Amino acid sequence: MAGIPDAPALGASALQAGTFEGATVLVTGGGTGLGKAIASEFARLGARIAIASRKEEHLEAGRAAIEEIGAEVFTTPCDIRDPESIASAFDAIENALGRPAVLVNNAAANFPVPAEEMSPNAWRTVVDITLNGTFFCAREFGRRHIDAGTPASIINVGASYAWTGGPGFAHSAAAKAGAKNMVETLAVEWGPYGIQVNGLVPGLMPHEDMTADIRGNLDRTHDKDPCQPALRVGRPRELGWAATFLASPYGRFISGHTLVVDGANWQRRSLTNPAVVSVREQMGKEPFRIG
Ligand code: HXC
Ligand code: NAP
Repeated sequence: MAGIPDAPALGASALQAGTFEGATVLVTGGGTGLGKAIASEFARLGARIAIASRKEEHLEAGRAAIEEIGAEVFTTPCDIRDPESIASAFDAIENALGRPAVLVNNAAANFPVPAEEMSPNAWRTVVDITLNGTFFCAREFGRRHIDAGTPASIINVGASYAWTGGPGFAHSAAAKAGAKNMVETLAVEWGPYGIQVNGLVPGLMPHEDMTADIRGNLDRTHDKDPCQPALRVGRPRELGWAATFLASPYGRFISGHTLVVDGANWQRRSLTNPAVVSVREQMGKEPFRIG
């Protein structure tokens, strides 16, 4: 069995050249990993790219990737937990590139930790970035478009444990469930203003920017490809192609939907799954004791 064939080569596109000519696309966390891959696909289709995140080195990496493609790019520091920081970033982007027509809410926070030893601040931090930050960015974007009477598109990048729960990732799974639910509310509430709102869920898409926490968690398990129904992991560009389709004129009537790009991995359940291994055991931790 060969599984699902590999993706077309980087640089290929199903959409016409220039599909996003004249449009500005804002990708939060667009300087690393999947955000950078999404920003790159919009750039290849003619978009001007705005990237917002906290760390200068990530902003610079995003800038370099977009410049290499030959598209216009603007980067701005922003902590999406802070509504004032978001408003300033939007002002700076509007001044530099014009109002973004597309917002990709890609920035998120995550690390594996058994629920019983997750500190209140660890929970708060992940929920604050992944759920609150996503809403604050959507709010700022939506208000500006509703005020101006301009159509727009929002994509919230999610995770499939929004539906299934995520052992070892209680904070992130709960936050992603909220971000997915937000898609359904905002799509209806803002449809009359011409604002399309969708979710986009990557399957396992390894990349060189994965944090040490996430990389370490993946490294604890065996070879990734045979664990997927597709017999391979996803390629970051495959998420970029899905994002550009959703925000393109050809995806206009798709709203309130969450598109999963994971080769059916999240549906791989049966009554006879492999034997249960506790999260603590998976992480090589000692039995839990308070104090
Ligand atoms: C337990 C941890 C922890 C860990 C941090 N904390 N890392 N607890 N295990 N590995 C706790 C800290 O002790 C602290 O609680 C609280 O979390 C906040 O930590 P800070 O370092 O002060 O937070 P901050 O500087 O704001 O950084 C946020 C961060 C960091 C989330 C901790 O990792 C980050 O910036 N991440 C951004 C990138 C990211 O996470 N990418 C992953 C996306 S992948 P106390 O109580 O000590 O104060 C994804 C899906 C992957 O989402 C799907 C699976 C493949
Ligand atoms: P990543 O490389 O760690 O990217 C996370 C990005 O979020 C970084 O660029 C980071 O930039 C930004 N960010 C974090 N906190 C922020 C804050 N407070 N304000 C502004 N920006 C912030 O992770 P990734 O793998 O590409 O993940 C991208 C998205 O895909 C996330 O939504 C993630 O949950 C989802 N996802 C990924 C996978 C996968 O296999 N990779 C699977 C499922 C879901 P700064 O550090 O510069 O702020």
